[in-house]
Amino acid sequence: MQFHILTLFPEMVENGLKTSILGRAVDRGLIGVHAVNIRDYTADRHGRVDDYPYGGGAGMLMQAQPVYDAFCALQEQSAKKAPLQEQGAKKAPLRVIYLTPQGRVFDQKMAEELAKEEELVFLCGHYEGIDERVLEEIVTDQVSIGDYVLTGGELPAMVMIDAISRMVPGVLKNEESGETESFRGDLLEYPQYTRPEVWRDKAVPAVLLSGDHAKVEKWRLEQSIDRTRQRRPDLYERYDLPGRALDYLKQERLLHRDMIEDIRRRQAQVLAVLSDGVLLQDKRTGIYMVTARNRDAGERLLSMTDPDGAVFCCHQKFLMQSVADRFHKTRINECFQTVYTKKTPLPEEKTDICRIFPLGEGDLDLVCEHYHTLADRETLAGLLREGSIFAASVCEEGKAQIAGFIGTHAEGGMGLLEVFPPFRRRKIGQALVSFLINRTLEKGWTPYGQIFTDNEPSLKLQEKLGMRLCPGTLYWIS
Ligand code: ADE
Repeated sequence: MQFHILTLFPEMVENGLKTSILGRAVDRGLIGVHAVNIRDYTADRHGRVDDYPYGGGAGMLMQAQPVYDAFCALQEQSAKKAPLQEQGAKKAPLRVIYLTPQGRVFDQKMAEELAKEEELVFLCGHYEGIDERVLEEIVTDQVSIGDYVLTGGELPAMVMIDAISRMVPGVLKNEESGETESFRGDLLEYPQYTRPEVWRDKAVPAVLLSGDHAKVEKWRLEQSIDRTRQRRPDLYERYDLPGRALDYLKQERLLHRDMIEDIRRRQAQVLAVLSDGVLLQDKRTGIYMVTARNRDAGERLLSMTDPDGAVFCCHQKFLMQSVADRFHKTRINECFQTVYTKKTPLPEEKTDICRIFPLGEGDLDLVCEHYHTLADRETLAGLLREGSIFAASVCEEGKAQIAGFIGTHAEGGMGLLEVFPPFRRRKIGQALVSFLINRTLEKGWTPYGQIFTDNEPSLKLQEKLGMRLCPGTLYWIS
């Protein structure tokens, strides 16, 4: 990996980066550090690179010309050094990072991303900054190393180069250390001890001397979690979001079954877990699901959502109006949630049905004709394409006729049940629901459905099949 640094103080950067671990990496050819003195490119007879800002104000600004010429020379050199086969082809533009307190704040994730580049250019400003025009011309990324102001960009560039280099394979001797250190998986590192076993009456925790690796790992993880919770609550909020969301949601399993299933079926992006609520977004549909114990937590969670076009499913009445008002939604559907909590499949009952089979895209008109609630034509086409809608056919007068259908919504709930009028009161609906319950169980999932509160027949049918009715209601807001 090659680092180029455009600076007025090349020796500062080179001296700082060519010692210790990075020095060793340079010697071994794993990284290259190349400082370019911007002053070498000035067109001014006296070697000046700065001037007063137009419009007045304190301090001096670095001029555009020397910065631009230094960059162009660097770009030319880099193109020449590219492997032969790339020289003719158009080379990807160099990534140029301007160090400034106004930039995006550098973190471990950014270090890991940047370590994948083959070449990076760091532009270090001095004085009051650099003429905006050259920044517009050459800079691809603006980065800050924290909310404080330094006298120049050299130290920030060195900080970044250090953090990026240690992600380059081979730079750290023990490959593993990069894995376990602070910030992996959003946790801080656990405490470490070395000899002697007792120092100033302080003994090393006994578990570390036990020789039991599983116990040591468990202890370390607990320590990491505790530390992160206490010292960096901001990081802790991001840690193991799915696991922590499940812990919260399982306190009311029936009410939250849809959210639990969305996580278990790996369809959920958990956006936030608070002590009093959870917010997630279904990855396939973009639907937000939110639950909260109080209005404050609910409002905080809602503030993290993008209201544009989103559909919400909220699990408390006190949040319903907030969602609707805030995002200018008008349609609110109150639903009961039902859950099949047993593990055993339902027995097949004798009916007139000769076959249950998946409908395909060619059946879109039929489905649209009979199903009008919630889903639009495009959504239904999607469900048909992935084989999520099943029809029951009945053989009558030697001819098979479709009697109704049922399906699984994209976010996971059972629904879309329709039995066509001539076939009602013949247990077709019951057979379709049983079929879908069993099919969902086969996948290792928990079947659940959401039924409009005024849909008595569906409610009765599901209860008859042993589905449990969740106390309380939830709200679809679209
Ligand atoms: N230049 C001056 N202060 C800086 C900071 N905090 N981060 C990056 N570059 C800077």
